[in-house]
Amino acid sequence: MKAVIPAAGLGTRFLPATKNMPKEMLPIVDKPAIQYVIEEAVEAGIDDVLIITGRGKEAIENHFDVAYELEDVLEKRNDKEKLREIKKISEMVDIHYIRQKKPLGLGHAILRAKKHVDGENFAVMLGDDVIVSEIPCIGQLMNQFEEYGGAIIAVGEVPMEYVERYGIIEYKKINERIYEVVNIVEKPSLGKAPSSLAVMGRYILPPEIFDCIEETKPGYGGEIQLTDALQILRKKKKIYAYLFEGKRFDLGNKFDWLKTNIEIALRREEFRDELIAFME
Ligand code: G1P
Repeated sequence: MKAVIPAAGLGTRFLPATKNMPKEMLPIVDKPAIQYVIEEAVEAGIDDVLIITGRGKEAIENHFDVAYELEDVLEKRNDKEKLREIKKISEMVDIHYIRQKKPLGLGHAILRAKKHVDGENFAVMLGDDVIVSEIPCIGQLMNQFEEYGGAIIAVGEVPMEYVERYGIIEYKKINERIYEVVNIVEKPSLGKAPSSLAVMGRYILPPEIFDCIEETKPGYGGEIQLTDALQILRKKKKIYAYLFEGKRFDLGNKFDWLKTNIEIALRREEFRDELIAFME
């Protein structure tokens, strides 16, 4: 299966850091956020990735390319460990790039993948949603997709006061982890949210989604929303929501990013004890 990673957003919530650096390149401890996403795809067996970029996002391409000078220096220094780490990044997977020329929304960005996807089911992984789990989240969705078909999206429970930040589903429960989506709303206000189950940036979509995006009118924020296209798709195909196993790390704003860095550092043995001592 191919994966599409939209990474064209302007990152206005992270200014000034994102004035000249893509939001997806913000480091979490020692790796840019988008590398976690690509590693998740690779672990799930995905071997073809299309990243939707935009102006000013060249750092993403450079990160996944060979860094000749750096490799040369590390080789001369005989620093095998760092060399391995650096080479791994450029050898991980075939990555293609296409630009979204205007920032007209997530749906609009994904429409840029139509030709590349070429009529097949495909995965969408948002470039600023980092999910840590034993089985890669997108792999969990692929397994469920094999059983249920249609379209499938990862969801997670969020506190009611956060519903305004997400796509929120209304659902019929099928079992503990699978729900049928009967309605989906992008960033509803607190009173209008149909539940507290939020879309978490991982989707398996059928190619029919592209026609639905083409029909979609500007919605929340005046943008072409993937959520609204899913609402159209729902009339043609079943959409399932899957309560994935794992933890999603929020990079939505500066404070969330700080917390994510601490949480992920705490999971790393080399930092854990020192960080706890420091915080105490
Ligand atoms: C996007 C989607 C939203 C989803 C969220 C998850 O919003 O539009 O439905 O819940 O990602 O991170 P964004 O965060 O890009 O505003």
